[in-house]
Amino acid sequence: MAYRNLVVLTGAGISAESGVPTFRASDGLWMGHRIEDVATPEAFARDPTQVQDFYNQRRRQLASVVPNAAHIALAELAAHCQGEFLLVTQNVDDLHDRAHAAVTPAPGFDLIHMHGELLKARCTVSGAVCDWPGDLTVGEPSPHHPRGTLRPHIVWFGEIPLQMERIEAALSACDLFLSIGTSGAVWPAAGFVEIARAAGAQTVEFDLAPTSGSHRFDLGLYGPATQTLPPYLETLRP
Ligand code: APR
Repeated sequence: MAYRNLVVLTGAGISAESGVPTFRASDGLWMGHRIEDVATPEAFARDPTQVQDFYNQRRRQLASVVPNAAHIALAELAAHCQGEFLLVTQNVDDLHDRAHAAVTPAPGFDLIHMHGELLKARCTVSGAVCDWPGDLTVGEPSPHHPRGTLRPHIVWFGEIPLQMERIEAALSACDLFLSIGTSGAVWPAAGFVEIARAAGAQTVEFDLAPTSGSHRFDLGLYGPATQTLPPYLETLRP
């Protein structure tokens, strides 16, 4: 298929086959925790040790996972794409980054982690972001401000996702939108398909099974992303 402006949204499902657990379990818990205990600014204010421990564990887990065929297929497309290709991930793991490090992306390619990154930390006073590959301790002094400490560079519930203006501009100009491995339970990402549709884009959902928002997509390709995505992306290669 010929396209000029591609936007791809990924969620936890693309990393599932690498061994990173998805979020929404049938018991209503979020990775075994209540959301309000680990993923809100209020939780961090109330019990910073519990919140830092939760993200320290998830950060450590990255050492034991590697990108899978779906991450790699997107990276290969990024190396060969013509026009614009914006990859927006809700995932805070670094599996897209590692897959993309193995190729030279085309000039029109960019990657946005709209919910932040596990391997970065943020100054509580200045908002400056730095690489942080190891554990974060409560009250870790910020290198960016004398009164600042470091928190995980994670967008918690109740906070605004990163680079939204840029993402919305790309969606409004895209002619193809792919949504991969996301349940559509969390906004604003769940609404991206509507912005793309309003722009006249073709929209395709990849998931294990149709999601609650599947009726908004022109096409659904269902099954494990490592099997459905690579052959589809092959058809987009120039
Ligand atoms: N291939 C394709 N899809 C898969 C696979 C797979 N191998 N495994 C699971 N999925 C699908 C599930 O069917 C589900 O629809 O991935 C989706 C994962 O959904 P969620 O766990 O809700 O994750 P996500 O949509 O990324 O969550 C969005 O919510 O909790 C917040 O900030 C967190 O970024 C996260 C956001």
